[in-house]
Amino acid sequence: MVEANPLKDSFGRKIEYLRLSVTDRCDLRCFYCIPKGFKDFSTPEHWLTFDEIERIIAIFGQLGVSKLRLTGGEPLVRKNLPELVQRLGQLEGIEDLSLSTNATQLVKYADTLKQNGVSRINVSLDTLNPQRFQDITGGNLAQVLEGLQAAKQAGFHPIKINMVVMKGINDDEVSSMVDYCATNDFTLRFIETMPMGETGQDASQNYISLQKIKAQLAEKYDLIPTVMGRGAGPARYFQIQGSNLKIGFITPLSQHFCETCNRIRLSVEGTLYLCLGQDDKIELRDTLRQGINDTELRQLILQAIALKPEKHEFDRKPEQVIRIMSMSGG
Ligand code: GTP
Ligand code: 5AD
Ligand code: SF4
Repeated sequence: MVEANPLKDSFGRKIEYLRLSVTDRCDLRCFYCIPKGFKDFSTPEHWLTFDEIERIIAIFGQLGVSKLRLTGGEPLVRKNLPELVQRLGQLEGIEDLSLSTNATQLVKYADTLKQNGVSRINVSLDTLNPQRFQDITGGNLAQVLEGLQAAKQAGFHPIKINMVVMKGINDDEVSSMVDYCATNDFTLRFIETMPMGETGQDASQNYISLQKIKAQLAEKYDLIPTVMGRGAGPARYFQIQGSNLKIGFITPLSQHFCETCNRIRLSVEGTLYLCLGQDDKIELRDTLRQGINDTELRQLILQAIALKPEKHEFDRKPEQVIRIMSMSGG
């Protein structure tokens, strides 16, 4: 039975959103995320198996987590992901099952994911220029754009585009991205560069405050504050007057949103991270493998929630090196 959410942290925030990283690997190499030549990926014996994942998520569902998002690295590089999706979508309490992807494999998987119960898809896309795309990610833009069309044809709605806006890299593409998303009926979200890992720290040289981008857009369009129906993530949304386009701003540095944080993260190795920007965590995998029962597992999860810190400190402690994004899933 689903309990009336006992997952309250020590700051009174209700935890109802779990981000599950099913792999720390990725078929791209965005320069602000995974270091070039990085080899230190987790190896299969350390990965939670599908059975272990299902067991943990079932308990979170009973404890009141209703939103589950699969992330990576790139979630679709985990073998048999559609099977996992199907299993998780059937769990009691899980009402909203979503996926964050780089879209490189959506041509192949969009239909199956939809049939197996994924309700929403968010896609990383920083540029519409093929050469730039190659420079930023090492990948092929056409493949991603085709993947996005496949997701649209499979009936996903909304599809949200995540664009990390970086000074001198892609900040001249804000308008073209607005046009592209308006034309395709995608929601557009801008994200501030975060100093996650050495790569994120280096990329912080290209940090640009989204307050500046918002001001630029406000000169051109009337931005009406709005909310998204589903999706309790960190973005603040505006609608462009006279258009259906919604634009979200994810501003961990210029206007942080920690006071309303409702989420925790589970890594592929079974580590429960309580905050994206802090190292507070609890390891679940080994305890699970030592034969812990469900009651004990619930207790462990409740103890972990009590460790959730008040906020990240990207702005106050820029020198603090936290794991790279692909380890704990964005
Ligand atoms: P919706 O459910 O559609 O709102 O999704 P979401 O925005 O929660 O998920 P998505 O995976 O698309 O997240 C987009 C980006 O937001 C991530 O890649 C992170 O960069 C950032 N983000 C998500 N949650 C947090 C958070 O708790 N703190 C910070 N600093 N950034 C976050
Ligand atoms: N800063 C901001 N976002 C990042 N991502 C990865 N690394 C960073 C970073 N240093 C996010 C991007 C991408 C998602 C998969 O992870 O939003 O879309
Ligand atoms: Fe892969 Fe996403 Fe990291 Fe890019 S940002 S390397 S797509 S995990």
